Amino acid sequence: MCGIFGYVGRCEDAPQRILEGLKKLEYRGYDSWGIAVRLNGNAAIERHVGKIGLASTMLPASEIGLGHTRWATHGAVTEENAHPHLDCSGRLAVIHNGIVENHQALRRELLARGHLFHSQTDTEVIAHLLEDELRAAAGEADHLAQALICAFRKLDGLNALAVLDIASHRLAAAKTGSPLVLGWASEASYLASDPSALLEHTRRLTFLEDNQVAVLSEGGVQVFDATLGERLDPRIWDITWQPELADLAGYEHFMAKEIHEQPRVIHQIAAGWGAHAEQLAELMREARGTYMVGCGTAAHAALAAQYAFSRIAARHVNFANGSEFAYLEHFLNEHSLVIALSQSGETIDVLDSIRAAKKRGVTVGALVNVEGSSLYRLADYPVLLGAGPERCVLATKSFTAKLAILLLTAYAFDHRLEEGREVVQRAADEIQHFLSDGRAELMRQIAEQLYQREHLYIIGRGPSYPLALEAALKIKEVSYIHAEGFAGGELKHGVIALIEPGTPCLVIAPKDETYTAILSGAMEVKARGGFIIGLSPEPDEVFDIHVPLADVGEGAMLVNALPPQILAYHLALLRGCDPDKPRNLAKSVTVK
Ligand code: G6P
Repeated sequence: MCGIFGYVGRCEDAPQRILEGLKKLEYRGYDSWGIAVRLNGNAAIERHVGKIGLASTMLPASEIGLGHTRWATHGAVTEENAHPHLDCSGRLAVIHNGIVENHQALRRELLARGHLFHSQTDTEVIAHLLEDELRAAAGEADHLAQALICAFRKLDGLNALAVLDIASHRLAAAKTGSPLVLGWASEASYLASDPSALLEHTRRLTFLEDNQVAVLSEGGVQVFDATLGERLDPRIWDITWQPELADLAGYEHFMAKEIHEQPRVIHQIAAGWGAHAEQLAELMREARGTYMVGCGTAAHAALAAQYAFSRIAARHVNFANGSEFAYLEHFLNEHSLVIALSQSGETIDVLDSIRAAKKRGVTVGALVNVEGSSLYRLADYPVLLGAGPERCVLATKSFTAKLAILLLTAYAFDHRLEEGREVVQRAADEIQHFLSDGRAELMRQIAEQLYQREHLYIIGRGPSYPLALEAALKIKEVSYIHAEGFAGGELKHGVIALIEPGTPCLVIAPKDETYTAILSGAMEVKARGGFIIGLSPEPDEVFDIHVPLADVGEGAMLVNALPPQILAYHLALLRGCDPDKPRNLAKSVTVK
């Protein structure tokens, strides 16, 4: 969600650095943006509605400032509501990610004290609150930190915020919930909502923890405990990610690039993740029960794991969406294992699930793509996906990376890791072939036939059921076509009423024990006029179009993920949608 970037240092190009930083955070999803810098003892500000993509900044040279991409929650998408927001004195510029739940009460108090408001946002109350606290703290040591601690304690909800203090020539930040990362560089300090925006400047990062406050100057970063008010010794991480992996590398969109990276990522996991799979399998053996949790695409990977462990290792694993976990966690205890799945490691519903699980003494494993993220730090056994930065809002390579690790783990659990490796490698090879032998072009042609349709259905059974859900999610997220995935056997219990002559239906039909039954489901749809697109190793008369796929056994769940990704990408292009930044969506959902 909202992107935050700040810089203080010796160089006078703060506006350009901030603009470039915000561009790196675009993928998080936003609808307006703004920047504030210090100029001759005052704040110079610009705010805009719309995309930052090709924008340049007219702000004058400065050595300190901050910027924000806003994903609207309180107040419409307007220039007035875009951040930064100023206090009455013009000394403070505030940007914010999250929701100040008690903003109405605070606003009433501040209005009664004579403060003037210029926006409908909850964020603006922070600027005015801090203005009062700074006045009260004047003359104290660390007065900016202490004032921010006092203001921050008055905010309810999960909030990450950053402040430009014109008078002291410093930035300050505080957080609960949403992530904030601080960067250490020579004669400069940075802050951002995501490490990927900082990597070109520094790899030396401090992850601000909940209820901590930071003050940044060109000399470095100070961190304080907001509960005790005391100064802390911040931990500095040396991040190993290569920033150059986060560019387009000749592709038109990150979605296309990330789809094409899948064979490499999956091969890498097959070759190098054996020890992680063994470790996760051992944790599962030691535990009395295993629970998988994730949101969106990660939830589909977790559900797919339920099938994989049942089939490959005869082991049951529980599954819940992150947002539902709180209603299903009562049986967990110190013998339980929870494995959280998350690309970003910052999805609030997943983090809340893990915090609740930890209160019950649960052991926590994680499959997570972002080193140093909140989930990475919370988990007892974090396993990095190694998929590299995923910039498209839609999850593609992080999905198949999770599936690959989970498949390996299921085989490791059954003491057949080598066989698991071969299965995953064969699937990666087939994905590579599909991308280069003309079948990707077939998916584009299918997209041409379908792009004006209003509805699209996808069916699969067994391990192909979560794949049907994931296919539907990809298509609706990026093309805005109404797409629904179903368990093939559930069709006749209601869904079939929706089939009309010409309704397209994707049928996922690998050569496993679901094959005959899923073709019967396809027949039922076809008998009502449905247009059947079969993803299957074998042709069948029920298919109006056959998308051939090699039979890769248990690796089919990896291979079946690919054609719908390519279809979704082309549907988006044909409908004039931006595949990397779908409307209303955010890459990392850090508010409830
Ligand atoms: C958002 C994204 C989805 C993603 C989900 C979970 O909703 O739009 O693509 O699957 O968050 O994200 P995570 O980072 O936890 O995997």
